[in-house]
Amino acid sequence: MLRLGVNIDHVATVRNARGTPWPDPLRAALIAEEAGADGITAHLREDRRHISDDDIARLAGALRVPLNLEMAATAEMQAIALRHRPHAVCLVPEKREERTTEGGLDVARDEGWLADFIAPLRDAGCRVSLFIGHDPRQIDAAARVGAAVVELHTGAYCDLDTEGRAAERDAELVGLADGARLAASLGLEVHAGHGLTFDTVGPIAALPELAELNIGHFLIAESIFTGLGPAIAEMRARMDAGRSGART
Ligand code: PXP
Repeated sequence: MLRLGVNIDHVATVRNARGTPWPDPLRAALIAEEAGADGITAHLREDRRHISDDDIARLAGALRVPLNLEMAATAEMQAIALRHRPHAVCLVPEKREERTTEGGLDVARDEGWLADFIAPLRDAGCRVSLFIGHDPRQIDAAARVGAAVVELHTGAYCDLDTEGRAAERDAELVGLADGARLAASLGLEVHAGHGLTFDTVGPIAALPELAELNIGHFLIAESIFTGLGPAIAEMRARMDAGRSGART
């Protein structure tokens, strides 16, 4: 079954806009659990623009489903991950000036030190995932540095869909499909995420090697209108329909 990880970062974005304790990302995570999320994802950014250290501590202490901690590959973040030992750690590139994670990690370039960075996390029992594009060089390097998982970046696919650039979108989907096949053939578990919506999730869910999708911004946006539980239920239905080849 294709798992759904719900990213609750943007509940914290709304909270931080006013400096109040609400809306509480932990409350959102518990509702997501109830609504059938298979995991909760939270990105502790170096600038703490949404999720805080205290959020991670509370999530780690209260969740029944696995916590996937997204973070940059820095010594500070590694120490936090080793303290909380989340089920999974997803390493992402991070730039202070970006609005959201723009590209994938350059694992091929950083192979030397990434292997050393990953080892203690793996020894602590965390499943280490690398957020990368579908470039075969990056996938090969991810297998060599000891990651258990790669998460393929679907942001370009989703942007091309929104912009109505169908031919380029379809080419990007072929790249993602080839990447997923290569990663699985190297023994990596394959996840995907970034920018997914009700409209774009079906073709991505249809890629048979994928084990998990991580979805945040659209679900939190949709929850303003429908509530979080129904938004998750609808996403789940569209994932399942995509996986089974049915039209949504
Ligand atoms: N996966 C990774 C690695 C991410 O960095 C993000 C964004 O934090 C997501 C998935 C979720 O993306 P979105 O919020 O656009 O659904």
